[in-house]
Amino acid sequence: SKIPNVSKDFQTRMPPYTKLLTNLTKVKEITGNTPLTLAEKILYSHLTNPEESLSSSVPLSDVRGKQYLKLSPDRVAMQDASAQMAMLQFMTTGLAQTEVPASFHCDHLIVGKDGEAPDLKQSLVTNKEVFDFLESCGEKYGITFWGPGSGIIHQIVLENYSAPGLMMLGTDSHTPNAGGLGAIAIGVGGADAVDALTGTPWELKAPKVMGVRLTGKLSGWSAPKDVITKIAGELTVRGGTGYIIEYFGEGVETLSCTGMATICNMGAEVGATTSTFPYQEAHRRYLKATGRKQIADAADVALGEYGFLKPDEGAEYDKVLEINLSELEPHINGPYTPDLSTPISKYAETSKKENWPQNISVGLIGSCTNSSYQDMSRVIDLVNQASAAGLKPKIPFFVTPGSEQIRATLERDGIIKKFKDNGAIVLGNACGPCIGQWDRQDIPKKSQEINSIFTSFNRNFRARNDGNRNTMNFLTSPEIVTSMIYSGSAQFNPLTDSIKTDKGELFKFSPPRGEELPSKGFEHGRDEFYPKPDPKPDSSVEIKVSPTSDRLQLLEPFKAWDGKELKTNVLLKVEGKCTTDHISAAGVWLKYKGHLENISYNTLIGAQNKETGEVNKAYDLDGKGFDIPGLMMKWKNENRPWTVVAEDNYGEGSAREHAALSPRFLGGRIILVKSFARIHETNLKKQGMLPLTFANEADYDKISAGDVLETVNLADMIARNGDNGGEIDVKIIKPDGNSFTIKAKHTMSKDQIDFFKAGSAINYIGQQKRE
Ligand code: F3S
Repeated sequence: SKIPNVSKDFQTRMPPYTKLLTNLTKVKEITGNTPLTLAEKILYSHLTNPEESLSSSVPLSDVRGKQYLKLSPDRVAMQDASAQMAMLQFMTTGLAQTEVPASFHCDHLIVGKDGEAPDLKQSLVTNKEVFDFLESCGEKYGITFWGPGSGIIHQIVLENYSAPGLMMLGTDSHTPNAGGLGAIAIGVGGADAVDALTGTPWELKAPKVMGVRLTGKLSGWSAPKDVITKIAGELTVRGGTGYIIEYFGEGVETLSCTGMATICNMGAEVGATTSTFPYQEAHRRYLKATGRKQIADAADVALGEYGFLKPDEGAEYDKVLEINLSELEPHINGPYTPDLSTPISKYAETSKKENWPQNISVGLIGSCTNSSYQDMSRVIDLVNQASAAGLKPKIPFFVTPGSEQIRATLERDGIIKKFKDNGAIVLGNACGPCIGQWDRQDIPKKSQEINSIFTSFNRNFRARNDGNRNTMNFLTSPEIVTSMIYSGSAQFNPLTDSIKTDKGELFKFSPPRGEELPSKGFEHGRDEFYPKPDPKPDSSVEIKVSPTSDRLQLLEPFKAWDGKELKTNVLLKVEGKCTTDHISAAGVWLKYKGHLENISYNTLIGAQNKETGEVNKAYDLDGKGFDIPGLMMKWKNENRPWTVVAEDNYGEGSAREHAALSPRFLGGRIILVKSFARIHETNLKKQGMLPLTFANEADYDKISAGDVLETVNLADMIARNGDNGGEIDVKIIKPDGNSFTIKAKHTMSKDQIDFFKAGSAINYIGQQKRE
């Protein structure tokens, strides 16, 4: 291969181009040179074994959206909230180190209130044990530890690890941000991250590919954020589900790398698996500016010599959207959902019609979505214009830098000082208000009054930012947020309207101007916010988990299957919709993400009992009532395995792995439903549960809480590695001794049977790796 070698420092950070190109050649042979989209090229070049996943007799159009792929990602990134369970699970495999490079990022647990220094100090007090735990895991297993205050996971990944053609997994839903630098980056739960960390092939249903053709060029007030806020309005929150979004067309060449990252970041808001861009000059400029010229040189060869990192001529998309950047106007999305999109020219009128508050109460900019040098230099241009006219912000204004590198660069260039001189509070390099970690002072959390905030963040469901369900949160570009803080009125359109100054003059903003990259280069910043690069694993390190902690608890591996039929009692019959939010509530429970026992007290507390109509109520065999997790815990202690019976699309919603971990921890063995949401069904199998669906839905009505539910031919199905026609018999014994047998369907593959036998996927992986 002509791919140049890189120096030692870059070896773990360069995508394995030579290996990927070899794989791609195999893929081309198998598929008879079918033209591939960029997304397919990156994904299929990461197949663990192309011959196993693809076949010359199955056209690629039949692979997309249908076939499962086994993939070998290059890297894993984990944020502090979700990393806890990922590591606790990894520890149970007994492995000495990770198989692929990985990093931790302490960003979600830091509360924003008074500004960087005091907030960081407080977070170190509140979260010390979690940070210490992750740091010790980093030292033991060789995972790079980016400590509190170092920055937000996706910004640090973009600055350090993302690269054209890379495939990575991240335990955070905005992991696709890395697609802005030409990677395929997918958000997953902890158990999936463990697959990659242990070098186990990671399974993904081949996504369809949606092409977005960009033409024209952004100008004036329009920003990359408007590309994705507009797309969100067109596609809605579900429109990208099952797709990778791939951008193409001459408009792509006009965007900055960080702008592309903003667009990919919010692809999560339309449900897309991920988003990506073909390798561009802008990528080369960004790689160089962030000290990675060697990677750009290698990517140049991968593109120029081998045609990698761009789609093939004639590649077909499953669907194509068109956006003319020259005609795009700023959009404001919300409240409460990112797909309610209003162009700025209609916002004043719409806000009146919809009765949205006419006074805006706070403006927030930054976060992983919008804290690039380009964003901030355009924003400070607006601040300078307003301040030259003698204007001061009318409402509180917060700035969240995405990383120490970007913060230090902004500080050197006088931008941080200008923010502060103009009344802004500059928060720590962390998520803060974007994820509800905002100790908001201007309005009490329980206020019943509707208020409105403008943010440059990416999500806006109720209570997301300040924990207040009455806060209407509008998403838009940092430029629009900033201009609005000088008026504070929903009726103000900065593109056309003026503001009266104290002298009675009329001030009108000129369109913002900024720089794509800092002309003096990026500033490194304070050393204490940087990790040791490429740490070596050290088996002598002791992992820090206090036995008395209420936030962290070591995991006991789940017990292996004993080879016998499952004999359970029905603990609960659930009525109607049962999402992962009903099964494993979030909010206050997030604190316990690293403590399986404590978080399990939220299990199914949102579920409705079909037989009594009550929520969070279940009855013991003697008729005594309990809250649902209470009865589960009692039966666990009595060694009484249980089944939950439910209706359609059980486990829809976000792919929350605790929704499978907790029932298993509490002694659940079978979930028998009319239908499953697929990801939740897979998660249950990964935790060693047996998910079954009724062959005949009417059988749901024949089962009651308290019945005995016994499998009849499970052992036979397992002996045949699941290849038994997809059905097993289940015997129901009523309290009076009467019994009958029903048919239930399963979708267990050979791998999943192995997970079941071992007790969980992680037990199985550990066994395999240790052998
Ligand atoms: Fe953090 Fe918000 Fe991004 S929570 S990772 S800043 S989406």
